[in-house]
Amino acid sequence: MALRKIAHMGEPILRQVATAVPPEQIASSRIQALIEDMLETMRDVDGAGIAAPQVYESCRICVVEVRANPRYPHFPEIPLHVLINPVVEPLVGTGPNGLRPEESVTMYEGCLSVPGLRGRVQRPRRVRVRALDRHGAPVEFVWEGVRAAVIQHELDHLDGILYVDRAAPGSLMFQREYDRYVPAEQRFVDGGV
Ligand code: NI
Repeated sequence: MALRKIAHMGEPILRQVATAVPPEQIASSRIQALIEDMLETMRDVDGAGIAAPQVYESCRICVVEVRANPRYPHFPEIPLHVLINPVVEPLVGTGPNGLRPEESVTMYEGCLSVPGLRGRVQRPRRVRVRALDRHGAPVEFVWEGVRAAVIQHELDHLDGILYVDRAAPGSLMFQREYDRYVPAEQRFVDGGV
């Protein structure tokens, strides 16, 4: 296992649409080592998730895990999920003005590829996720709230999208100012609860 270097915003690989992993390659030592390295790298920097393009591999793999995370102290725990070729389908409707507040989750997101910044992003609060696990077995589940936000953030990485592209205008701020000025009740708002 090895820590991998994290690509920062501006690296072209973060803007590419990553390619699918052929299922027959999932068991290969290259893909398994990549997954182990992604886990080690994410845990080393207290990430809630990491996607392969963030470690300079343009393939459709992401991992998600939250365990008593100091970067996200208000988060519920998310057990480790390794997701290969994930597909995420929103399970909410939209109103005339887009996503309805009661069907959205609004969170000040951060990203290992955009160090030191936070920005407020509104996303569908309920999604269906289909993927292959690290053994190549199909998995399917429905996630809500924080989990839905985290998996949508990671899926965006596989499509060359960064959260700053989706952040509300004027909401970007540095971590120090976020810690100082954004009250806990505004950091994460689940409109469906
Ligand atoms: Ni990110």
